[in-house]
Amino acid sequence: MRRFSEEYLSATRTEMWADRDALSGLALANRERVLDVGAGTGEFTRVLREEVSGDDTQVIAVDADQDLLGAVSPPRLLGDATRLPVGGDTVDLAVCQALLVNLGDPARALGELARVSTDRVAAVEPDNSAVTVESTVGDETALARRARELYIGETILAGETTPEEFEQLRQQWRAMGRTVADQMQDGTYRHREVVPFYVTVGRV
Ligand SMILES: C[S@@+](CC[C@H](N)C(=O)[O-])C[C@H]1O[C@@H](n2cnc3c(N)ncnc32)[C@H](O)[C@@H]1O
Repeated sequence: MRRFSEEYLSATRTEMWADRDALSGLALANRERVLDVGAGTGEFTRVLREEVSGDDTQVIAVDADQDLLGAVSPPRLLGDATRLPVGGDTVDLAVCQALLVNLGDPARALGELARVSTDRVAAVEPDNSAVTVESTVGDETALARRARELYIGETILAGETTPEEFEQLRQQWRAMGRTVADQMQDGTYRHREVVPFYVTVGRV
């Protein structure tokens, strides 16, 4: 399982839910019990808790990483998304954010979300092929795009990238990293990444 740090999750969620129109399909104001699966440090759990309106509505965070889950206020459950530790039909919305993209078998987790929900299932997932990078280091934008294309297409692993191409990219990346380090030292480095996310909602 890929591990995430609290710092990473906090930094990458900045402003993510400043606008919440995309959550309208979740009908949060009408929910009685919600499960946020792969909740991490609860960045999305907090948004859900702000949006549900009933005093008795529970938003339960689930994650397989005990350290991250410790940062979420209860209710919370330690558990695996592909074998959720709750019975069938126990919530009326099961949701995940940036979970499926990290799983080897996302369909299995989706099946679990559907099993535990009586009404809706929602997935908020990034489109990593459409990430944009702005940087004060000129080469960073193009190199990051090239590295992402190779990674997403898995062409490095599939052998479609020659060793020479791979080595060239590695050297360019290291040179770019040195420029980044220099700029960080003199306080001029700026970097901004925008990752589009899609909200997909289904009824059980
Ligand atoms: C990119 S983080 C997303 C965290 C949170 N949903 C957010 O958007 O800030 C992915 C999370 O999924 C969790 N995770 C990965 N595999 C899991 C699994 N099989 N079962 C439960 N959680 C898992 C990780 O521990 C991590 O907290």
